[in-house]
Amino acid sequence: VVPKSLSVKDEEDESEALAGKTKVTIFYGTQTGTAESFAKALADEVKARYEKAAVKVVDLDDYAVEDYQYEEKLKKETLALFMVATYGDGEPTDNSARFYKWFTEENERGIWLQLFSYGIFGLAKVLDDLLCEQGGKRLVPVGLGDDDQCIEDDFSAWKELLWPKLDQLLRDEDDVNGPSTPYTAAIPEYRSVIHDPSVASVKDKFSNLANGNVSFDIHHPCRVNVAVQSELHKAESDRSCIHLEFDITGTGILYETGDHVGVYAENSDETVEEAGRLLNQPLDLLFSIHVDNEDGTAIGSSLPPPFPGPCTLHTALACHADLLSPPKKAALLALAAHASEPSEAKRLRLLSSPQGKDEYSQWVMASQRSLLEVMAEFPSAKPPLGVFFAAVAPRLQPRYYSISSSPRYAPNRVHVTCALVYGPSPTGRIHRGVCSTWMKNAVPLEKRHDCSWAPIFIRPSNFKLPANPSTPIIMVGPGTGLAPFRGFLQERMALKEDDTQLGPALLFFGCRNRQMDFIYEDELNNFVAQGVISELVVAFSREGPQKEYVQHKMVDKAAEIWSIISQGGYLYVCGDAKGMARDVHRTLHTIVQEQGGLDSSKSESMVKKLQMEGRYLRDVW
Ligand code: 2AM
Repeated sequence: VVPKSLSVKDEEDESEALAGKTKVTIFYGTQTGTAESFAKALADEVKARYEKAAVKVVDLDDYAVEDYQYEEKLKKETLALFMVATYGDGEPTDNSARFYKWFTEENERGIWLQLFSYGIFGLAKVLDDLLCEQGGKRLVPVGLGDDDQCIEDDFSAWKELLWPKLDQLLRDEDDVNGPSTPYTAAIPEYRSVIHDPSVASVKDKFSNLANGNVSFDIHHPCRVNVAVQSELHKAESDRSCIHLEFDITGTGILYETGDHVGVYAENSDETVEEAGRLLNQPLDLLFSIHVDNEDGTAIGSSLPPPFPGPCTLHTALACHADLLSPPKKAALLALAAHASEPSEAKRLRLLSSPQGKDEYSQWVMASQRSLLEVMAEFPSAKPPLGVFFAAVAPRLQPRYYSISSSPRYAPNRVHVTCALVYGPSPTGRIHRGVCSTWMKNAVPLEKRHDCSWAPIFIRPSNFKLPANPSTPIIMVGPGTGLAPFRGFLQERMALKEDDTQLGPALLFFGCRNRQMDFIYEDELNNFVAQGVISELVVAFSREGPQKEYVQHKMVDKAAEIWSIISQGGYLYVCGDAKGMARDVHRTLHTIVQEQGGLDSSKSESMVKKLQMEGRYLRDVW
């Protein structure tokens, strides 16, 4: 058993506690919490399997306060396991960005890396390649967990490769040949306490945060009002796209054109009520959850910090529980443990087991069965609240949007352009996106004094206009991919009003039909009239007999695009990563190849160079 002192950041205790043990450090870079929970689960398993291991779990951002400390500290590591996620265009997560930058920029790591054994799970090929190139000893091939598939299975498969390697490093010589310690992860659980209704409740963890001059981030969001909310689609459209403005007056929130905003939305009342019914608990129940026992000792290391309480079950379900994503296998296992009907418990266990892999991927993943839908199918599974919030429902994550305003134009507002996620799932349930539904139903201050509000924070991005406003730019943003460009255009408008000379700006926008979803049409036409856009090119995909997409329009304008690129101009693409951005990327290759008279490999390196120079930027999801 590892002494408790090792889980706290106390360097002095560390060397003492290390006596006779091997230090194993598990780093995580997390965006939604998955990598963090994997890191903690891995730590528990390593501790249980190897008495010799002194295990520590470290947030990559907390590891070093200053960059130079990374090297100093890493030199003291010998066995490191990285659980790292990426998001969007393969970018590192917020909490690993600084480490990534430091690690990839400095190219000589010196001899010390040769004493370093490591394993990586997550989409972190760059890190893996660099560590290996510079002499680090790779214990297992990088586990390229893909969230679109079943990441838990990928993680289990990766661990199966890891154990034989750790057996060699962390087991005493005399028992290397013996059977390895069998390990079954316990179902994590908070201690929950029910409170007397007379106790004051916290509405949520954000309301008590004063809006002052502090810096806000994912863990410290700022409560802001919805000032404006309107529909952008025209009457003929059967879909919806919302324009929303958060009022940041007096909050100290600062943002730049091209940044993202993270929004903590709430589940709808309908969803919350359904969850309350399935849990068989009243929504006004006042409770709190804890990670320590009544005597103050820790329950387990792998749980995220509890949300603040006491709060009502309604608040907990609305603000903190992801109820509409398909449940992870670990959640099914926790439900199984609390199913009173043996046949239900059996089937839940099968779905969460390796033998049930295909069934899980069919019945849960491919059918996009939500957690609530699954719970409805197993009515005898009634987990207590401490189990439900620890092991069944993941924490509700903030949703990110490309800000569609510029602080030069709207210093007190953060604008969001959000398409409503709404449609039937394969099981016939109507799936409603949590945050877009919340935005659709939000009541702005314009309409009601007691308006909607949300905790938000800014995530900086490198999707920025060229430093020199006279540099020509090309923007490609169909649908809500238009969002950051609206910010760009507002910024250019403000620059122009200050008599700054603007370079040419070509905007490719795409939508289905002029009468339905040509969002911000009047504004765009005004930008053209004012000379802020030099050319607006719109592809309507459902007007004529044939689909017309932005990339088709780009081909029509190939010579102009080539001319802008070869003059040192910038190309920006925003929108859906897997369809549009991929196709636009291919089209760009073709344009460079044909216009530049280059062969395929030369055009490829030219596009790479554009990316390296930061002249081809993508904001994709
Ligand atoms: P569609 O829905 O008619 O196929 C904004 O969503 C616009 O992007 C719509 O007109 C949509 O067309 C279009 N779109 C869909 N897939 C695309 C792709 N792979 N490349 C470019 N545009 C695409």
